[in-house]
Amino acid sequence: MRSLLDGKTLTLDIGRKALLAVDQTLLPGREEILVIEDEKAVFDAIKQLKVRGAPAIGVAAAAGYAVCASRFDVSSREEFDRRCGELSAYLASSRPTARNLFWALERMDAVLDSDKTSGVGKIKEKLLLEAKAVEEEDIARCRAIGLNGERFFGDGMRILTHCNAGRLAAVKYGTALAPVYVAAEKGRRVRVFCDETRPLLQGARLTAYELVSAGIDTTVLCDNMAASLMASGGIDACIVGADRIAANHDVANKIGTMPLAVCAKRFGVPFYVAAPSSTFDANCPTGADITIEQRDASEVTEMFFGNRTAPAGVKVFNPAFDVTPHELITAIITEEGVIDPSKT
Ligand code: MRU
Repeated sequence: MRSLLDGKTLTLDIGRKALLAVDQTLLPGREEILVIEDEKAVFDAIKQLKVRGAPAIGVAAAAGYAVCASRFDVSSREEFDRRCGELSAYLASSRPTARNLFWALERMDAVLDSDKTSGVGKIKEKLLLEAKAVEEEDIARCRAIGLNGERFFGDGMRILTHCNAGRLAAVKYGTALAPVYVAAEKGRRVRVFCDETRPLLQGARLTAYELVSAGIDTTVLCDNMAASLMASGGIDACIVGADRIAANHDVANKIGTMPLAVCAKRFGVPFYVAAPSSTFDANCPTGADITIEQRDASEVTEMFFGNRTAPAGVKVFNPAFDVTPHELITAIITEEGVIDPSKT
């Protein structure tokens, strides 16, 4: 991966009043930077997975909020707050599952709620600074996840991951891949197996791309090959990210995560989840309470091939996420430490 945006996947450019982000739908073929300056562009970037991965979605939402609000041409604070309320609700409707989106928007809303006296100019400045803080904190959180989790990945280990929870899914480092990157930095020769991750191939297109660019030994496999690889003793540990973690530590992540956890339990392979605190939802009692996004049928029937992969008009089941029960998870690695989900 070229050193785009100073090694960041996305960043708020305060001077330009713009969100700059790598367009992930074009990878691995082309590396292009989106310049995002209006509400619809922020919404579309998130909805169409140009910016994707729970932490990156949160950072994009905060930056998008600040950028759009800073461009509101209003002088009354009341009118400004009303427009921000509409903006926040609009961005919140882009995708339902990742907690980080709502966490970031709530944090931006709180800037307005905690200061009712500043004028519009001052509050615009505060929103931009808050969004920048969300971005900087994401980098620090992911790095800390890497440092807290690296001990699980010893020299020579064969690690299976699903979807993309690497640096493309956050500002830098990523969540699930952060401990892998730190282990590699420490000179351990880890090998990573990436599920291709149907239907949108985040594993093959994104995870393999960033790992190969980082010089890490990488193998892509189709999702239906992971079970036999584990059964034959070919995997030493699994690690995935998370979109939302319920209060009982059930984990919503990319569709296909839960069957991996079932196989890992069956074949005695440790199954780790890595996520920042912004992914935890204390108000969501269990995984059954998590809203699972249903996406367009065309993602399954047309995919990235030029040709159809299923007949026109066929019914399609296309949930974007599934829920892994906490009892299948060996440990959840966060920026604060390691959680044992069996002690929920
Ligand atoms: O639909 P996506 O590509 O946004 O789904 C992403 C995932 O499921 C990731 O594993 C999750 O967001 C963790 S990212 C650090």
